[in-house]
Amino acid sequence: MTTMRLDDLRQYSDVLRARNGELVTVRFVEPRDAEALQNYFRSLTTRSRYNRFLGAASELPPSLLEDFIHIGEADRFSVIATMLVDGRETIVGEARYAFDSDTAAIEFGLSIDDRWQGHGIGKALLKNLECRAASFGASRLFGDTLRSNDAMIALARKAGYAFTATPGDWKLTRFQKPIHVEPQEIPCASWRLAAVSPSAMSSLAV
Ligand SMILES: CC(C)(COP(=O)(O)OP(=O)(O)OC[C@H]1O[C@@H](n2cnc3c(N)ncnc32)[C@H](O)[C@@H]1OP(=O)(O)O)[C@@H](O)C(=O)NCCC(=O)NCCS
Repeated sequence: MTTMRLDDLRQYSDVLRARNGELVTVRFVEPRDAEALQNYFRSLTTRSRYNRFLGAASELPPSLLEDFIHIGEADRFSVIATMLVDGRETIVGEARYAFDSDTAAIEFGLSIDDRWQGHGIGKALLKNLECRAASFGASRLFGDTLRSNDAMIALARKAGYAFTATPGDWKLTRFQKPIHVEPQEIPCASWRLAAVSPSAMSSLAV
């Protein structure tokens, strides 16, 4: 399983590609990102925020924002997807995932800025999350989404997720996927290396 050096988060950055080839960096959230992250959530459409948080929310509640920027606590991690827009690093998406060592499962949620939806960034970020999950030694990845969320359901279905009822909430559906990948075969260079040789981590592109 990955042993991460939380004092040097930059080394866990990945470079992905949107559908048109544009570069998207995925990196852990840091405390200095708090304001930009909150602005990101505020700028989502009401519908996207509703879908992301499974209910109405205008922004991240302060306590949740604190959780988002302190990654690794209770095996919960937040990442942001950024792009250079007019020369400035801009948040175009985010994801949060939690590892449960008892069940060896990772639960996650994600969002993409409405202006950047449909560019293949969600698909690339999901694949990256699968690599991160595999490097933990997780055997399963899952998330819950509203039954009305056609975009997330289509994204998950195309990525090979199976659907079941979410326990205790008929408005939700659970999408899940087993992870059967040996550490040596993780399809992201950085996380393959993290799983095989935790001490060998450095900033690597996927
Ligand atoms: C769901 C979400 C993350 C998808 O991200 P995205 O970057 O727009 O998705 P992509 O462009 O990577 O599309 C991936 C696939 O999903 C499908 N898809 C995406 N949006 C869709 C839509 N609105 N309707 C139907 N299918 C859709 C596409 O067909 C695409 O398949 P393709 O690659 O074969 O063309 C994004 O819509 C979002 O952030 N929604 C708001 C927050 C949310 O719902 N989060 C999920 C909570 S778990």
